[in-house]
Amino acid sequence: MKILVTGGLGFIGSHTVVELQNDGFEVVIIDDCSNSSEKVLEGITSITGKTPIFEKIDLKEKDDVADFFKRYHDITGVIHFAASKAVGESVENPLLYYENNIGTLVYMLKELSKKERSNFIFSSSCTVYGQADEMPITESAPVKVAESPYGNTKQMGEEIIADTCKVTQGLNAIALRYFNPMGAHPSAEIGELPLGVPQNLVPFITQTGVGLRDELSVYGNDYPTKDGTAVRDYIYVVDLAKAHVIALKRLMEGKNQSNYEVFNVGTGTGSSVLEVIQSFERVSGKKLNYKIVDRRPGDVISAYADTAKANEELGWKSEYTLDQAMKSAWVWEQKVRNKS
Ligand code: UD1
Repeated sequence: MKILVTGGLGFIGSHTVVELQNDGFEVVIIDDCSNSSEKVLEGITSITGKTPIFEKIDLKEKDDVADFFKRYHDITGVIHFAASKAVGESVENPLLYYENNIGTLVYMLKELSKKERSNFIFSSSCTVYGQADEMPITESAPVKVAESPYGNTKQMGEEIIADTCKVTQGLNAIALRYFNPMGAHPSAEIGELPLGVPQNLVPFITQTGVGLRDELSVYGNDYPTKDGTAVRDYIYVVDLAKAHVIALKRLMEGKNQSNYEVFNVGTGTGSSVLEVIQSFERVSGKKLNYKIVDRRPGDVISAYADTAKANEELGWKSEYTLDQAMKSAWVWEQKVRNKS
């Protein structure tokens, strides 16, 4: 039961490696360390008592990917996180995103197609829904025109996998459409480590709380929502990691209903930006310095998941509340900053 986790040193990847190892799987990580550090291996080892195999490979190097699968012919499942994820950067440098996110996916699927049987989990995103017409969002909601090359790579990625599954008998795949991942492992041994100024809300809040940033800009308070700020579905990263293990087992046990399936991974609860700030203030006991600024271009008003399919068919449900997830993010942030 050797599982390849690409991008396994990243935020969601590292938490998934922990859950896989805790479940008895043997893990091989591929990561190019372009947005992560080998030090994450120490965190994984201290939580699980096991060090995963690590191969520093750039998945854009097609020959290295082929060579990897020759050396590890006993890989029975792949969880593919490795990808670039900064929306703004993708607008400025679309080819980087198409090469990193699409090129590498194609090489991976080519290798898996050569196997008699393979199981593949893909990191997709609720970004494929754009501004959905109805809340909560079900998996059958239409895919909207992508707002960015990053978003487009998730849509195209799903299509490439679906097309490949149609003609590849032994290939079984699940795309997990994540809502907004947040938090850190309860041990505070691994967590989110954004490079430079965080683009995402929760790390920006915790960095402001710890004094690394002066104030948070809240992007817009004139949205048609409960308090005027945009609404998202914040999912605890360990809950999200567990969804990957459950999805992988579903494929391994042949419980999937078709060889390509899609599931939302969210909590089903929408929280506004102000509610997320209030959650931070509750769990930290600190007032957060913030100001309201203009809307951020490309942001949707509201996105939260209908989780019925994931709950009933996949048999997965989120467990952590927003406050619990926020607490873990805060503990992690304080630990990281005290170290440096
Ligand atoms: C963003 C991406 C999404 C991607 C995801 C990956 C956009 C438009 N969307 O999701 O495609 O899959 O990251 O992590 O970039 N906010 C503030 N101030 C801040 C930061 C965020 O008010 O400094 C607000 C945003 O306007 C939004 C909410 O907080 O309403 C969440 O933002 P963010 O964490 O960036 O996630 P998304 O935009 O939902």
